[in-house]
Amino acid sequence: MTGVFQAVKVTDRVYWVGAIDWALRDFHGYHTGRGTTYNAYLVMGEKIALVDTVKAPFKDEMLARVASVVDPRRIEYIISNHSEMDHSGSLPAVMEAIKPEKVFASQMGAKALGEHFHIGGITAVKDGEKVALGGIDCVFMETRMLHWPDSMFTYLPEEELLFSQDGFGMHLASGERFDDELDWAVMESEAAKYYANIVLPYSPVVAKTLEKVAAAGLKVKIIAPDHGPVWRRDVGKIVGLYGKWAAQKPTRKAVVAYDTMWGSTAAMAKAIGEGLAAGGLDVKVFAMGGAHRSDVVTELLCAGAFVVGSPTINNGMFPTIADLLTYAKGLKPRNLVGAAFGSYGWSGESVGQVAEILKAMKVELAGEGLKAVYVPDAAALAACRQLGLDVAGKVNQNTA
Ligand code: FEO
Repeated sequence: MTGVFQAVKVTDRVYWVGAIDWALRDFHGYHTGRGTTYNAYLVMGEKIALVDTVKAPFKDEMLARVASVVDPRRIEYIISNHSEMDHSGSLPAVMEAIKPEKVFASQMGAKALGEHFHIGGITAVKDGEKVALGGIDCVFMETRMLHWPDSMFTYLPEEELLFSQDGFGMHLASGERFDDELDWAVMESEAAKYYANIVLPYSPVVAKTLEKVAAAGLKVKIIAPDHGPVWRRDVGKIVGLYGKWAAQKPTRKAVVAYDTMWGSTAAMAKAIGEGLAAGGLDVKVFAMGGAHRSDVVTELLCAGAFVVGSPTINNGMFPTIADLLTYAKGLKPRNLVGAAFGSYGWSGESVGQVAEILKAMKVELAGEGLKAVYVPDAAALAACRQLGLDVAGKVNQNTA
């Protein structure tokens, strides 16, 4: 009888044995509207290796997919490319169930797995080290801080296949396992969202890793990440996008994010948006009462401007704006022009507070911030439109 959970053949010697999480909607603060997958892979040499595991509650699904190919107890090696718990959460239970000969991880990975699960017995491997499975080799490539200290890739020269853990991944649950079976527009947008929300702060490491892979002349026919589809048709396209996103070259796009108490900061945002558009920019406006922080930072990818508005409430900024700025600051978007704005009643601290955070984010400010008392009049709205034009002028210079 055929089991419910089946493996999917990637090549003659590699199978996908991961899990599909259709229900996930939050990944540590990132809205995952299309769910995700936790990809694990079986490599069938004379010895059998399992590359990564899955989030703890999905262990049985993964082992059932393994069992559709081979008795899981025949797995000799487990390779942990990344210790974050969406890929290692089931590792202790899997080790207990199958008793592998060895578990390999980078040096930092061995440390991190020990610190997560309070287990020993992890074999640390070095950059460039090779483990022969018999008929097929696993070559390890350290990718420290892409995106954790422990991160590494595993390359199979015989298959020209790269297991890239989170790199080149996306949160996209689907019945299809390969890029050529899915809509490119959906994959591009989810890959961009993943890059902006997870990988962006490590863009310099991405650029160096791409250089290192090119310099090594590594032939890569297939990229098998830990989330989303396996790339076998569009390897060049996704690698090209990573190069572009890592460079963070600004484009003529402006992101405006605001919240509002009584509609005044909203009116300012609209007027600023008019100025930005009149200045020739593509404008995306987010009302944070109904928008998600992870969608705003996705639009910040390769944007030229970030303009943020908050009314003053109890001498501070609106909580939704504090949330967005805390999140966006950590992701280190670069090469942005920006401004702060907002309505106030009697003290008006929020605009200065927003401007301070934008400065800390290395955003080039167009002025010290624009305030309007209570309800903006025609002159205040004209000043907002002019601010949009000023920001657009700076972006046009930066992108000329
Ligand atoms: Fe998919 Fe960094 O974990």
